[in-house]
This record gives sequence, C-alpha cells and structure tokens, in this order.
Amino acid sequence: MNNNKMEGYVEWTSPSNIATIKYWGKTEDQHPLNPSLSFTLKNSKTITGIKYKRTRNKESSLKVIYDKTENVAFEKRIQEYLHKIKNTLPNISYYDLEINTRNTFPHSTGIASSASAFSALALCLYSIENKIMSEEDLHKVSNLARIGSGSASRSLYPNAALWGKTNLLVESSNIHAIDYTKYLHPIFKTLQNTILIINDEEKKVSSSQGHQIMSKNPFATTRYNQANQNLEKIIPALQTGDFKTYSEILENEALTLHALMMTSMPGYILMKPNTLQSIELINEFKHNTNLPVTYTMDAGPNIHIQYPKIYAKQIISFIDLKLKPLCKNQQIIYDEIGAGPERNV
Ligand code: PMV
Repeated sequence: MNNNKMEGYVEWTSPSNIATIKYWGKTEDQHPLNPSLSFTLKNSKTITGIKYKRTRNKESSLKVIYDKTENVAFEKRIQEYLHKIKNTLPNISYYDLEINTRNTFPHSTGIASSASAFSALALCLYSIENKIMSEEDLHKVSNLARIGSGSASRSLYPNAALWGKTNLLVESSNIHAIDYTKYLHPIFKTLQNTILIINDEEKKVSSSQGHQIMSKNPFATTRYNQANQNLEKIIPALQTGDFKTYSEILENEALTLHALMMTSMPGYILMKPNTLQSIELINEFKHNTNLPVTYTMDAGPNIHIQYPKIYAKQIISFIDLKLKPLCKNQQIIYDEIGAGPERNV
C-alpha cells in the first residue's frame, strides 16, 4: 500500500437529479442502452461522511449508519459495491470504514435517493485516495458512482449532465457523465422542480429489476431509438430556450418510462390514482393559462413539476391550491436546479 494516510475523516454533500431523457435499460457492466440527460437538484441531497483507519486485521471492516441507525441492507449493498470498485480504488480495501449517511429530503418519500447516495459515496471514497482538482477527476468519480447506480454518474455536475455515448456530442461517454452546463439557455438555469409526494411507500419493483426486465420488453429497440431521437430534439430546445418543445419531450419521456413498465413481463404500474389526477390538473392549468409549466416522473408515483423561476408565484399558488391536497400528508418538496456536490470536510 503506497498511501501514507493512516486515518482520517472525509465528508461530502451530493444532490439527486431528475432525468429529462430517461435511462431505462442497461448492459451487464452497467453501460446504458441509450444516452440520458438530467438536471441536478439543489435541495434533495445526501450527506455522507466516512471515518477511515488503516486496518490491523487481515480483512477490513465496514459499518454503515443510515440516519443514525445501523443499516444492514444498505451495508450489504455497499459491501458489494466496494468489491466491484476494488480494481479502480485498490487502497480502499486496506481501511476499516465507518460510513454515516443521511438525506435532506424526508425519509422514504420516493425520491430517487440512489443518485445522491452513490455520488456522495463515490466522492468520499475517491477523496480518501486523491484530491479532486480537475474535470478529469470528476469523470473518474462519475465512473465510480455509475458502478453503484447509473443515474448517480450524472449527479457530480452542476446544473445538468449527460451520460451515455451519442454521436451528437463528441465528449459523451458510457463510462462517465459530462457537464452539460455550457449547452443550456439561461432560462433553463432558473428551472424550478417542485415534487409532489403522491405516495411514500417503498416501491414493489426496484429500478434494478426494471432495468433487467427491459431486455425482454418487446418495445426495447424502439425505445432506445426513441430516446436518441428525443435527445436530438431536446438539445436545440435547451440551447435556444424553447420551453414548448422541451415540455413535449419531457412529458413523452415520463409517460414512455411508465408505459415500458406496463409492457414488461410481468407488467407493473407504479403510478397511483392521484398521479393521474395531478397530471390531468396540470394539463388543464397549462391549457387555461398558457404558462410554461411541464412535468416528469421518475420510476415512482411522484410528480416533478418544472417551470422557469419567473413564473414561480402563479404556478406555486396553483400547486398549493389544487395539487397539495392530492399529496400524501400534503407533502411537497420545492426544489430547483442546483450547483452540484460540495465537500464539507
Ligand atoms: O440509476 P438507477 O439504476 O436507479 O436508474 C434510474 C432510472 C430512472 O431514474 C428511472 C431514470 C434516470 O435516468 O434517472
């Protein structure tokens, strides 16, 4: 072992993200079957700290504490993850690790937490061995995060990120995501993302299972082509500030994602009655007011409503009046585009 550090503590805060072009379907080595594009969130974050100490034993130890309680299920997932990355970060296996992690968003609200969790974890593990100085380091951390959860590869960057090889961008890659900030029109840098918590129970089918059964979905090839075509249309919309085209693609991607779940074998539905009712009310509001407001969904029943900041007042009054009553315990998260991860210690 050539690392001099015997022990220490490192801590990062890393955000979740919301995909506009969805990643749904992957190869065995966690490469995506189509490119995806996401906005980085600001308030939905994971804070992870790692106490590390060079081990005195033959085998190093691992303890994972989630929200102040030891979490064996998460510990097992992280153990498997550490095994997968041991060739990339060889020194980590010489340390006893105590990982403390928590989310800023309420526990089990159905927000994709794997993106913030694995990006925060990858940042901490990488920082034990290296200083993050350059874009090249971020690409390496993005690769590490990808191995834990594909969408986590995109959480490393401010504003927006693209993951997956596409001929439309030479610097794109299946191995790591890239910073998409420079391709955004200023209006998208003010993007608001209000999350309706329609249901906060644990999903019956996880995203990992969802990705797996995509391989047998009869519409899989059509879907991967569609994602590429949608990316081709959304790129100029993001560049010119064309919110109308952006909305059409965003909604098409969200509905397609859920249609793919329904057309898998076995098929399943993650939306709830209040998900559909909210969508109808958003469509009606959009039609009546002509305001630039749109929605998307992750692999779950909750809805992310997006709009430029200048329209926040009118849109939030509509959300609070009409949509809040449809949310579980009236829970809403007022989130927006964010600046990416931060090192705390
Ligand atoms: O990163 P995973 O394996 O949790 O998959 C995430 C999939 C979606 O959230 C549905 C879409 C996406 O691109 O984030």
